[in-house]
Amino acid sequence: MRMIDIILKKRNDLPLSSEEIHFFISGLVDGSIPDYQTSALLMAIYFQGMDARETVDLTRAMMYSGEVIDLSGIEGVKVDKHSTGGVGDKTSLVLGPLVAACGVKVAKMSGRGMGHTGGTVDKFAVFSGMNMELNRETFIENVNRVGIAITGQSAQLVPADKKIYALRDVTGTVEQVSLIASSIMSKKLASGADVIVLDVKTGSGSFNTPESARLLAQSMTEIAINMGKKAVAIITDMDQPLGYAVGNALEVKEAIETLRGGGPEDLREICLVLASEMLRLAGFASDEITARKILEEKLHNGEALQKLAALVIAQGGDASAVFDTAQLPQAAFSLPLKSRESGYITRVNARTIGEAAMQLGAGRKTKEESIDLAAGIVLQKKTGDYVEAGEILAILHAASAEIISGAEAMTRTAFELGTKKPEEQKLVLGRVGIY
Ligand code: URA
Repeated sequence: MRMIDIILKKRNDLPLSSEEIHFFISGLVDGSIPDYQTSALLMAIYFQGMDARETVDLTRAMMYSGEVIDLSGIEGVKVDKHSTGGVGDKTSLVLGPLVAACGVKVAKMSGRGMGHTGGTVDKFAVFSGMNMELNRETFIENVNRVGIAITGQSAQLVPADKKIYALRDVTGTVEQVSLIASSIMSKKLASGADVIVLDVKTGSGSFNTPESARLLAQSMTEIAINMGKKAVAIITDMDQPLGYAVGNALEVKEAIETLRGGGPEDLREICLVLASEMLRLAGFASDEITARKILEEKLHNGEALQKLAALVIAQGGDASAVFDTAQLPQAAFSLPLKSRESGYITRVNARTIGEAAMQLGAGRKTKEESIDLAAGIVLQKKTGDYVEAGEILAILHAASAEIISGAEAMTRTAFELGTKKPEEQKLVLGRVGIY
């Protein structure tokens, strides 16, 4: 088999066989296929696409390119959740402890944040001493004992994705549904869960249009089903940040408020929708009404919050901040950003807020960069709110006044004002998957 023939076939819009896809992935990983040929094939896939069978074959080949984690040592159904990434998306911090408090086994492998979206591994770093690099035995032991464990992705997981993603990033081939679906699902499947709930974001803070979100949701659930797993994808709005807080410690504080039964309405609702799917797929509730009843009880009786503390302690962390959020990292400087005009907020651009938070120190531009756990933005107004001139739109937090003034203008541009109250945006835009 020759790589040139595979490139030509895809360039000419013909489907690749399972053997050809396997040949490509093995050659990519063992270094026998040069980057220029991989790049050419990625561009051919970008233009010609892949059908459902090819996408499943690509995912399977990628999944087996490295370590495949065996979670059979964990009793019961293992559930994982994945979000395609957004601004202020702290749902994993709430969902994990919440569904674990209901008895579902949560075995979660998370990534670090990149660019304007945050990562769960970074958020847990606010609990001092917390180990997010658990070895396999401890990970399995903790899920069995505590009901939940969260760890960073192993470096040996899906090496094919690392190579392909790096090339997609510099060849203009990121936004292709089969390539995104295989990249996400190969990592999720290699992580070993039986049940996967996918949160597919659409809007300015995500990389999806409503149409591409639907195609991606369909493709990812199809892959899971073909690989013998259960999966549901929920399409959710990420045009404005989720909740009010953006930045690691600020988001943890908001997640703790939600686990206490309070928290912002949109965050609470998305968590209840996703957690209901997790309970239903794991067989802990027969319908959404029953699932919600169980979940609301765990939020109100303190068991969900206790589960977060148990998770932190089991991974060597100091859980005192779970019960006293004043102990979370605090920024030395803060600035209230005041509105110059009066009017309705017609939009809070999630991407711009994410980028401003990154400037404040909350995110990293390159893998090597360190982050300031205390930095970020807390919105005071969201889409649909009325603001008077002089009222506070957002509070910026950072390590110095200079850093804050550097991000002030950008934060301001995220807020668009008008004279008419905008129509309410739907939070949940669709659901794809079967039980
Ligand atoms: N996240 C991934 O892991 N891969 C993609 O291609 C896009 C988002």
